[in-house]
Amino acid sequence: MNVSRGFLVMGCLYLIAGISIGMYMGASTDHTLVPAHAHINLLGFTLMSVFGLVYRVVPAMAESGLATAHFWLHQVGTLLLVTMLVLLLTGRIAETAMFPVAPIAEVLVMLGVLSFAANLLRNGR
Ligand code: HEM
Ligand code: HEM
Repeated sequence: MNVSRGFLVMGCLYLIAGISIGMYMGASTDHTLVPAHAHINLLGFTLMSVFGLVYRVVPAMAESGLATAHFWLHQVGTLLLVTMLVLLLTGRIAETAMFPVAPIAEVLVMLGVLSFAANLLRNGR
């Protein structure tokens, strides 16, 4: 798979969702969803765009299996995390119900970032 394109396309989808929530917050003056808006835009659009561009600029990194691992760890972790956050902030689940899915999602994102770091050290010259 083309990891760079995957990250850029997914980042764009998160940006559309993040801006939609921002516009809703601005129009309604209900700012309950600020943390979800922030992380959809930052973990979603900003980080994924940076990763997508790095894999495009350094093709040797994109060819490594670490890049594929990074892509899926970041996708699953981010989707789980922002979904749990939206459910929490809209009162659909209690804070105690964040466990264990949210910590698992955070670990997935972190493992993805560690894959990215290892790949950068090995192939990012
Ligand atoms: C048209 C697009 C956007 C609109 C209408 C919008 C709207 C908002 C609103 C209403 C807030 C809440 C402010 C508050 O309660 O103090 C907010 C917070 C925030 N937005 Fe956006 N936003 C947009 C795009 C973005 C983008 C593209 C990013 C990042 C890439 C972003 C990052 C943030 C962050 C990090 C916060 C939290 C700031 C804080 O901690 O005080 N927003 N946005
Ligand atoms: C697994 C990854 C992450 C976790 C678990 C996490 C967790 C948190 C938590 C618990 C808060 C406090 C929320 C509150 O006070 O309501 C927060 C706020 C914030 N984080 Fe993250 N974060 C992560 C990744 C990131 C990344 C990658 C960025 C930037 C690129 C970022 C930017 C911010 C910003 C700007 C705020 C303040 C936004 C607000 O006012 O709600 N975070 N984060």
